[in-house]
Amino acid sequence: MSDIKPRITALGSHVPATCVTNDELAAKIDTSDEWIFSHTGIKSRHIADDETATSDLAIAALKALSKEQNIELDTIDALIVATATQDYPGFPSTACVIQAKLGLPPIAAFDISAGCTGFIYALEIAKALAASKTYRRIAVVGSEKLTAITDWTDRNTCVLFGDGAGCAFVEMSDTGHEIVDSVLHSEGTGASYLSIPTGGTAYVDESTIEGNPRKIHMDGRAVYNFAVRVMCSVIEELVVRNGCSTDDIDWFVPHQANSRIIAAAAKRLKIDLEKFYINIDQYANTSAASIPIALAEMAQKALLKPGQRVITVGFGAGLTYGGNLLKW
Ligand code: ACO
Repeated sequence: MSDIKPRITALGSHVPATCVTNDELAAKIDTSDEWIFSHTGIKSRHIADDETATSDLAIAALKALSKEQNIELDTIDALIVATATQDYPGFPSTACVIQAKLGLPPIAAFDISAGCTGFIYALEIAKALAASKTYRRIAVVGSEKLTAITDWTDRNTCVLFGDGAGCAFVEMSDTGHEIVDSVLHSEGTGASYLSIPTGGTAYVDESTIEGNPRKIHMDGRAVYNFAVRVMCSVIEELVVRNGCSTDDIDWFVPHQANSRIIAAAAKRLKIDLEKFYINIDQYANTSAASIPIALAEMAQKALLKPGQRVITVGFGAGLTYGGNLLKW
């Protein structure tokens, strides 16, 4: 019997070559390896050079997928880029920049803006496009040059972020990893907890803002509390809606923002922390790229086995949050 459904059929990822350790950061700003690691779980992060844009990181991830899976990139007919760090402010979209740089024929190409939850949102959009049969092979990319919007004078935030990209192909197929269900939410009332306060079309008097108003501002404690709460609620919503329990889930792949957030959610849900994949020590927080980078890494390490159930769960600027239930 044919089992053709919207599935992830391939994964890829890329991080820039330059890796900066906590000790190297501590030589430049008032922080320490001990503080960063004990408060976040981060040991190092990869940082792109000045000539590399978000689109270049995305292209490197797509090319890695293409090489490893032996699939030509000109076979995609839709491209969705989840990013908070577009190459240009507004337009052209980073997806259109990628299309041009790769010399792809006319395709559907657009960005989505859902902060660190972007890849989770994009996967559900890709599932719908695939199911509509209007598009055959959809490339979904989470790509971020977060260090470009980081305020390097603010030690509260600058130690947290890194650059990178991860991608997936989604298509109707009887092989691959089924996108079973998704939960997509937002709480816009919490927007000010994590934002770039100025530089858009909303008028804000820059003189009223402490620090660099065109870089990331964050109320770390508020985001932390929100993150633990919604990670739990998303996981509960997904398992209840799909008639299973957290015991039936083999892997949880969380947005990598802080290992303490992940541990707190695991404890509250009474789930063994070993079931949460954590690689924040190497990459720090790469926003919309963190989940696809983790999935690609897990697939490469053969940690994901056919038949396993996997939940992705994330949160970020918006404030947005959500998760996908995948069947490997
Ligand atoms: N090095 C040394 N000391 C520091 C540093 C640093 N890099 N940063 C802050 N401190 C100091 C503070 O100044 C403060 O000192 P004080 O007590 O003398 O004022 C002290 O450390 C404690 O600060 P807290 O804010 O209480 O530290 P906390 O334990 O809350 O950790 C953190 C801060 C890591 C930011 C945490 O709140 C957090 O992870 N929040 C969630 C962040 C997050 O997930 N953001 C991303 C979501 S969206 C996205 O991914 C883009």
